[in-house]
Amino acid sequence: MLLPLLPLLAATAFTSPALARALPTDNIITHVVHEKRDFAGSSGRWTKGDRVASHVKVPVRVGLKQSAEAVEKAQGWLMEVSHPASGKFGQHWTQDEIIEAFRPASDSVDEVMDWISETASIPKQRITHTDNKAWLAFDASVADLESLFRTEYHEHHDTATGRSMISCDQYHVPAHLVDHIDYITPGVKGIHVYSSDLRKRSWGPGYHGPGGYGGAPGWQPPKHRPAPYMPWNSNELSTCDVAISPACLRALYHFEPLPPNAKVSPNNSMGIFEEGDFYDQLDLNSFFTNFTKYIPNGTHPILDSIDGGMAPITNLSQAGGESNLDFELAIPIIYPQTATLYQSDDLYYALGGNGTTGGIFNTFLDSIDGSYCTYSAYGETGNDPNLDPTYPDPNGYQGQLMCGVYKPTNVISISYGEQEQDLPAFYQKRQCNEFLKLGLQGVSIFVASGDTGVAGIPGDGSANGCLRNGTVFSPTQPNSCPWLTNVGATKVYPGRTVFEPESAVVDPPGHPYHSAFSSSGGFSNIFPIPDYQTSAIAGYFADYNPPYPYYYNGQYNSSNGLYNRNGRGIPDVAANGDNIITYVGGKYRLEGGTSASSPIFGALVTRINEERIRAGKGPVGFINPTLYQHPYVLNDIVNGSNPGCGTNGFSCAPGWDPVTGLGTPNYPKMLELFMSLP
Ligand SMILES: *[C@@H]1O[C@H](CO)[C@@H](O)[C@H](O)[C@H]1NC(C)=O
Ligand SMILES: *[C@@H]1O[C@H](CO)[C@@H](O)[C@H](O)[C@H]1NC(C)=O
Ligand SMILES: *[C@@H]1O[C@H](CO)[C@@H](O)[C@H](O)[C@H]1NC(C)=O
Ligand SMILES: *[C@@H]1O[C@H](CO)[C@@H](O)[C@H](O)[C@H]1NC(C)=O
Ligand SMILES: *[C@@H]1O[C@H](CO)[C@@H](O)[C@H](O)[C@H]1NC(C)=O
Ligand SMILES: *[C@@H]1O[C@H](CO)[C@@H](O)[C@H](O)[C@H]1NC(C)=O
Ligand SMILES: *[C@@H]1O[C@H](CO)[C@@H](O)[C@H](O)[C@H]1NC(C)=O
Ligand SMILES: *[C@@H]1O[C@H](CO)[C@@H](O)[C@H](O)[C@H]1NC(C)=O
Repeated sequence: MLLPLLPLLAATAFTSPALARALPTDNIITHVVHEKRDFAGSSGRWTKGDRVASHVKVPVRVGLKQSAEAVEKAQGWLMEVSHPASGKFGQHWTQDEIIEAFRPASDSVDEVMDWISETASIPKQRITHTDNKAWLAFDASVADLESLFRTEYHEHHDTATGRSMISCDQYHVPAHLVDHIDYITPGVKGIHVYSSDLRKRSWGPGYHGPGGYGGAPGWQPPKHRPAPYMPWNSNELSTCDVAISPACLRALYHFEPLPPNAKVSPNNSMGIFEEGDFYDQLDLNSFFTNFTKYIPNGTHPILDSIDGGMAPITNLSQAGGESNLDFELAIPIIYPQTATLYQSDDLYYALGGNGTTGGIFNTFLDSIDGSYCTYSAYGETGNDPNLDPTYPDPNGYQGQLMCGVYKPTNVISISYGEQEQDLPAFYQKRQCNEFLKLGLQGVSIFVASGDTGVAGIPGDGSANGCLRNGTVFSPTQPNSCPWLTNVGATKVYPGRTVFEPESAVVDPPGHPYHSAFSSSGGFSNIFPIPDYQTSAIAGYFADYNPPYPYYYNGQYNSSNGLYNRNGRGIPDVAANGDNIITYVGGKYRLEGGTSASSPIFGALVTRINEERIRAGKGPVGFINPTLYQHPYVLNDIVNGSNPGCGTNGFSCAPGWDPVTGLGTPNYPKMLELFMSLP
């Protein structure tokens, strides 16, 4: 439909003389503003610089809207393959099937292609339709783009990192194409440039992501303390209240190691994500020597290096507490199955130096799913140059961003994260859709729920890490995504044994070696309660209603409530996470954190997948719907809490609770249940 031009002009308040110049030349097709910069949200970090010279050539990406029908149906598809009552349980999708289902309609592609080639005189053969079908890509001069998109490109300078981007304040597309186009770059979202056509900038002072710790933004190193006692006998169970060894875990969750010479599937390696923290082989050797003699020295994870990620370290003093903990827990449970290490990002980005930008996981997800590199959702296409690393990186990895170079493993464990409030909601929703797609393909994702109770990390947003004036509970990210499995932490308290029920970890502040620690848990402000969790959460509120005011739909600013009454509940399950024996930097020591709980749970599911593969079945995939239907396969944890924000937090209770979820694994019962499913 053609609309009169003048009212449109009045409605969009142009300020740019270039636009006033360009518009009157076309009175056939009506153009409308497609995106406009949100000045309120840019918080002074970016400064607008010179206009970009008209001859500069830039790579252009036009993101096409994915089938809206597919996006709407996706949750139903995931339930179809992962709900135990579904006739299609376990019938996971191939990556090609996913690309096909989410591709834009072909008439969108043709119409957008026609417009570009006719208006900018770019031959159609120079426009690439990307493999995942969601993008058109071509190179064009700034002059051509300014007339195509009726805009003006300027350099924008990031005062935090010193980098420059080409972007515009707003741009236009023909009205009849609005529904086909998701996003254009360079647009309001810029592209980084290294062209000699631009003024060279020096690199500015360091910018540390929210949270401010070393390593990935927001990530907290595992808590550690000198080991008070060495259980010399690796099978000793009387000391599990002091130090957790592999034998303690076997007794708690009722499993045995596989025979060292067992024949195992080559396709069932357990994936573990690391960033900015590096395992050390000598430490693994010391651990195996002392606690799991059935594992030979030199046993190590298969390295899937992502965008320059490097491991292991060669200098013992740089050994990473997180990586060593993850592998010293997982390998003893899965051996002789292998572990796969997804070591993400070059040192420049991974070590939280000048390159740290605030987001995590997107470059990792790109590497295991090429279509994610250019996936459009919620107004965001591909990685976000304001939040994610950009490759090639002049300060590190010089290759192109890795897209789909690795196959995802059946199980992936992640012991990193930050808070929901640290990242824009659209960024988190787009990433969450990717976790959903991995679930559709049969991948189980386990994430440590966080170590700060109902609060965030101190200093993140407020002194105590809580929202709205330091009072409202702060949910963790990526945990709040409903399509992954969150793991909280339990503990064997002093004087207790592995033959009694565990309790949630409550390590109060004031410990000489680490800060306060309890499982992060609560309710998302962004994601609603998924169907599989509805009755578990309703049961908790009905029988054990927390003594705090609450709000709905994430609207904490306009209420006195402390938590979202209709948000996705965190965590789903739990496993031991305190006083874990590790070797780090040549030293025997104890570590704690939900960082430990996630690889323990993931390793046990890797064992279940192995048994299913042996029986001719596929991997279990997204396990939450099955676990919430059959909570008896978990040991219900009923004691403990997760204090924070000046409160006692939530309390454990019979059934699901926002501290330890449904509970810790009862391996034989879980195995029996999953073996009974198709
Ligand atoms: C399993 O791995 C082997 C060897 O790497 C490969 O040949 C085979 O195709 C894989 N099978 C499946 C089902 O992926
Ligand atoms: C394995 O490595 C550990 C640590 O370096 C060492 O103490 C031990 O002697 C080694 N064992 C064997 C069998 O080589
Ligand atoms: C544990 O490992 C270290 C390093 O290999 C070794 O020095 C120590 O003797 C071991 N302890 C026991 C009890 O095996
Ligand atoms: C190992 O790392 C430490 C601390 O970063 C450093 O002081 C030491 O010189 C390094 N040693 C070697 C051999 O590189
Ligand atoms: C950050 O940039 C400054 C200034 O260019 C440089 O001196 C410093 O080494 C950089 N730090 C990192 C971690 O790259
Ligand atoms: C924050 O807390 C202070 C002190 O309790 C109070 O005066 C102020 O009104 C609060 N602000 C908001 C936005 O709740
Ligand atoms: C609450 O207010 C803060 C500060 O104004 C703002 O940053 C945040 O986005 C608001 N959150 C919601 C859910 O409205
Ligand atoms: C119950 O949990 C509390 C911490 O909240 C702990 O001090 C206590 O020892 C636990 N009781 C048992 C029986 O483990």
